[in-house]
Amino acid sequence: MITNLVEYKQQYRESNLEPEEFWTKQASTLLWKKKWDRVLEFDFYKPEVKWFIGGKLNITENCIDRHLTARAHQTAILWESNDPSEPSRKITYQQLSVEVNRAANMLKANGIQKGDRVCIYMPMVPETAFALLACARVGAVHSVVFAGFSAGSLVDRINDSNCKMVLTADGAYRGDKRIDLKSIVDEALKKCPSVDKCIVLNRTNLSVSMQPVRDLWWHEEIRKTSDVCVAEEMDAEDLLFILYTSGSTGKPKGMVHTCGGYAVYTNYTFKNVFQYKEGQTFWCTADVGWITGHSYIIYGPLSAGATTLMFEGVPSWPDMGRFWHVIEKHKVNIFYTAPTAIRSLEKAPLSFVEKYDLSSLQVLGSVGEPINEEAWHWYDKNIGKGNCPIVDTWWQTETGGIMISPLAGITKTKPAFATLPLPGVQPAIMDEAGNEIEGNNVEGRLTIKFPWPSMARTIYGDHQRFKDTYFSTFPGKYFTGDGCKRDEDGYYRITGRVDDIIIVSGHNMGTAEIESAIDEHSAVCESAVVGFPHDIKGQGVYAFVVTYDPVHEPIHLRNEIKDVVSKIIGPIAKPDKIQFVSGLPKTRSGKIMRRILRKVAEGETSNLGDTTTLLDPAIVEEIKKGAIS
Ligand code: WTA
Repeated sequence: MITNLVEYKQQYRESNLEPEEFWTKQASTLLWKKKWDRVLEFDFYKPEVKWFIGGKLNITENCIDRHLTARAHQTAILWESNDPSEPSRKITYQQLSVEVNRAANMLKANGIQKGDRVCIYMPMVPETAFALLACARVGAVHSVVFAGFSAGSLVDRINDSNCKMVLTADGAYRGDKRIDLKSIVDEALKKCPSVDKCIVLNRTNLSVSMQPVRDLWWHEEIRKTSDVCVAEEMDAEDLLFILYTSGSTGKPKGMVHTCGGYAVYTNYTFKNVFQYKEGQTFWCTADVGWITGHSYIIYGPLSAGATTLMFEGVPSWPDMGRFWHVIEKHKVNIFYTAPTAIRSLEKAPLSFVEKYDLSSLQVLGSVGEPINEEAWHWYDKNIGKGNCPIVDTWWQTETGGIMISPLAGITKTKPAFATLPLPGVQPAIMDEAGNEIEGNNVEGRLTIKFPWPSMARTIYGDHQRFKDTYFSTFPGKYFTGDGCKRDEDGYYRITGRVDDIIIVSGHNMGTAEIESAIDEHSAVCESAVVGFPHDIKGQGVYAFVVTYDPVHEPIHLRNEIKDVVSKIIGPIAKPDKIQFVSGLPKTRSGKIMRRILRKVAEGETSNLGDTTTLLDPAIVEEIKKGAIS
């Protein structure tokens, strides 16, 4: 583990000069069933990347079995319910072993074999962690779908990877709401021919319809199983999971992560970035449905033998003090959350924070979107009390683990800067012509020019799209889709997406996907969606909508459009603002000039740049006048 800045610099240098030796050392701290023959083979033009070739392991032996001698009775998963009056659950490593082995046997008994895809659509309860690990234990590929997505989104994801099984629950609690997960799954499964089994956890005692043969209760199935399931021997490059992320065009992309490199990198980054010390309690507030939950609720912390806190609820319920209450109650040492949560809690009276003893905190983290300076300072002062280093961690679903970040207490932080690349990460800033911009005080597009172990290997079923999206803009380099600056100290500041992806409350959304949902409304002829700066969400969704007929009841139609989007994608994609327009600004070749729409959405109406190439410049005047502030 890195313990000071000199060591960081040494490791960084070594990782650049001798990457194979460097990663050999890191990988050797894990448990392998068979050592690898070669460390790395790659070609960023093809693209193809393989790490720890010939190595065999099972990630669950690293997350569970190898801890059973030293920390069988230590809490592995500490679970806090949505309802503060429901007792929390403490699952020791010993119990985790029993639960995961049983769940693994449950999968096998229901026909799941190595390589099969299993969709997990579940609430934030320990059984969800067991479900992921059970898949990994038997070598099945999990595909977790965030339980806030609609039936339609679930259908797309299940069918894209032909999942054989769905693991779900009757319902999920979220603050004062209860979501009927099973009925969403029932609707989805009408269109998913590959699924032959659906196992349902009883979380909310909802009465649900169970389709004979297909649907089974978790508690009944688990009762029949033994608690011994030999971990499948996985090749380092076998698939561990698929996780969908929005693309700037077309349907979501199933990012493929493999067993060996992902295990090594999540373990390494968890320990070093957060400077995790034996016995600490770590709380990442993300949902397991996102990559942050995969890497830093489950795999990173458990492989390091940490106590990982899993929270079912939301920051605002029963009141705006819930996070701080949980920190006090469980004496959380490391707290990792998203800027959008910080901004919403910052708006609440400070008394919600002051009520609680936060003195257990030692390290704070931020992830998912750029953190603005004001939120950074509020977090530092009121939550960290000026004593906790903040690690602003930049990374992506595609990168599998943290890429650019301070090391807690080691790297000098700077508000809104993700600071320096971790060892093994070689960023390059590019100009639009495709040249690398060297030196400091520069700005451009962020690429990575050398492989790291946990990078996605492909898009499931569409390697060409993987190449087109990530390796074609700057041939020979991985393109992140983000813009960034490097300042006079060589520190990186991520400025946001440079493609048609917007990040709303930390969730990536393709504007094309929202547009096609809006267009499903029968009154809508076409639409264009852009992001706009939003106080709490970071970015909000602004939709320009062209209807077939004049709009007589705009409020009514707006609500209908929001409902359609909610139904097709999920409530997180609902537009915040909908402006009805008679046409969209298009070039003569028919391309929508999003640049203009973005400016209007940002409230800028004077300097819209060059509009001479527009087919109908008059439309811009109309759009400006009707802009929603
Ligand atoms: C953005 C989440 C600035 C970025 C782990 C990236 C950030 C996208 C940061 C990936 C950060 C993530 N500072 N921007 N610390 N972290 N991003 O796939 O635009 O949900 O490309 O992965 O979030 O989002 P994803």
